[in-house]
Amino acid sequence: MDLPTSDLSRLSRRLDVANLRDRLRLDELANRLGNTRDAVGSLRNGRNARVLLTLVGPAVRGYLLQNGKQPSGRTVIEVDSDAHFDWKYRRDRDELARLYDQAKRSQWDGATALDWSIEVDAARPDRPLMSDAFFPLTAIAGFVALPAAEKARQRHGLVAWMMSQFLHGEQGALFAACQVTQAVGWMDGKLYGSTQVVDEGRHVEVFHRYLTTKLEKLYDVNDNLYVVIESLMRDGRWDIKFLGMQILIEGLALGAFGTMRQASGEPLLRELLRYVMLDEARHVAFGVLALQHHYAHDLAPAEVREREDWAFEMAVLLRNRFLAHEFYDEYWAHKMTRGQWNEMVLGSAFMGTFRKRMFRRIVPNLKRIGLLSPRIRPHYAELGLLEWEHDKAAPELTGEDLVAEG
Ligand SMILES: [Fe+2]
Ligand SMILES: [Fe+2]
Repeated sequence: MDLPTSDLSRLSRRLDVANLRDRLRLDELANRLGNTRDAVGSLRNGRNARVLLTLVGPAVRGYLLQNGKQPSGRTVIEVDSDAHFDWKYRRDRDELARLYDQAKRSQWDGATALDWSIEVDAARPDRPLMSDAFFPLTAIAGFVALPAAEKARQRHGLVAWMMSQFLHGEQGALFAACQVTQAVGWMDGKLYGSTQVVDEGRHVEVFHRYLTTKLEKLYDVNDNLYVVIESLMRDGRWDIKFLGMQILIEGLALGAFGTMRQASGEPLLRELLRYVMLDEARHVAFGVLALQHHYAHDLAPAEVREREDWAFEMAVLLRNRFLAHEFYDEYWAHKMTRGQWNEMVLGSAFMGTFRKRMFRRIVPNLKRIGLLSPRIRPHYAELGLLEWEHDKAAPELTGEDLVAEG
């Protein structure tokens, strides 16, 4: 596949790979190269050079350079997107105006809505952080043989890993919501977007409070999640931010939160996730309402095809890649290979339920915004993802529906 020379030279300027070999142990370098190769390799199924180009840079920075795991705990991502002002303040998008009103009435305070006096104890059998039916490690003999206290420690570690990724995703959502608010062209969209910024700030607050005061453990951002967040933050096109954040990541989040809620018997965590899901339902509806008109009326067919390819590649990237490697490195790297670990996690009940739920919240919305054409359908069908296409799209679902269905 030929990429334009100017794009390639811009890309290479942005990648600081010099001296990497001097700084890393060989096995660590091999791991990082393997992850980069796997991710970029999966993108090569893509038929679109622009799609490949927008994802290669974040993949190299995320997997190879590990920009999300700097010792300082800080990462600066260069962004380049337009801010759209409207000095006439036109209020001409009724559906978005209604969503804005609904969002204003649905605000809650993370400090008082949840009962923070509940004590969380990973060893308490009547309130498991994650029940055995979902916990991936219960399938392996090495885990079953461990003493009860060690099992509780690992169960606590894996839940802390997941919650940490939810928290990092929420930080990405907070900044993406800020970008979307400035980039969208309609005043009703900007007003709605301002409520999403508050929502995402609240989500960061409650996930962080749960992790630091109840679980007392915080993991680094997962490389896969970092790559997805970086590619959204950098892309200058407002609709790609909507597509990536509001349709794909929020759909993924709804699937993950619903699965975690079902898997957990811990009452504070279940209630926290319920509140967050009620907000996320509005966020996905916003993405669908904003994009369905734009893709049907404002873009050329080639531009719509590019979005269709981008969404598919991103969905594939998201599908199999939340493998808890940070947890594996801590507890299991000395006992099994990374390949064995991946196989076990992917085959677990948690991942099976999570994947189904995630795509149930993504595929009907892709169809609604016109990104499930006969050209791309066979690719989704190949992955077994079309069974949800006739489900309701986000604007027809309330937050309570989503909580009830999980
Ligand atoms: Fe959120
Ligand atoms: Fe959200």
